[in-house]
Amino acid sequence: MNNQASLQNVSINFSSNEVENWEVMIDDSQIKQVLINLIQNAIEAIIDEGTITISLSHVNVYDSSYIQIQIVDSGDGMTKEEQKSIFTPFHSSKEQGLGLGLSICKDIIESHKGILTVSSVKHDGTTFKILLPE
Ligand SMILES: Nc1ncnc2c1ncn2[C@@H]1O[C@H](COP(=O)(O)OP(=O)(O)O)[C@@H](O)[C@H]1O
Ligand SMILES: [Mg+2]
Repeated sequence: MNNQASLQNVSINFSSNEVENWEVMIDDSQIKQVLINLIQNAIEAIIDEGTITISLSHVNVYDSSYIQIQIVDSGDGMTKEEQKSIFTPFHSSKEQGLGLGLSICKDIIESHKGILTVSSVKHDGTTFKILLPE
């Protein structure tokens, strides 16, 4: 998605640490769709120019180990109130928005027994984390 991003003055950076021996069972076309949706939203959240940073790592949640894909954008962010409804189907803050992207992302990640979370600060960017069980 670099082409589309650079047209909107957004640079996409990727880093991957300590994941040489990672192995995770996924439906790759579905996970690709999740990444496209999240990166598309990140591009749309950046008003003038900004960055999207995608990184891969291992994390443990309780006793389970996951591969974490983190997508951080320097976009406009959301209030706590706004974050509450973003996974609801047909919820969109955009004039032309369908509001289906994130609800589909959540369904796909949960069908992989994974976890999709958001954290955001209004005017200070957003982080989505995808956890996929190893
Ligand atoms: N990276 C982000 N930064 C700020 N707001 C976001 C981000 N991703 C999603 N949102 C908010 O969540 C809403 C729902 O997203 P989505 O389900 O993809 O629908 P759509 O993109 O069609 O509006 C968006 O309208 C927007 O308000
Ligand atoms: Mg969207």
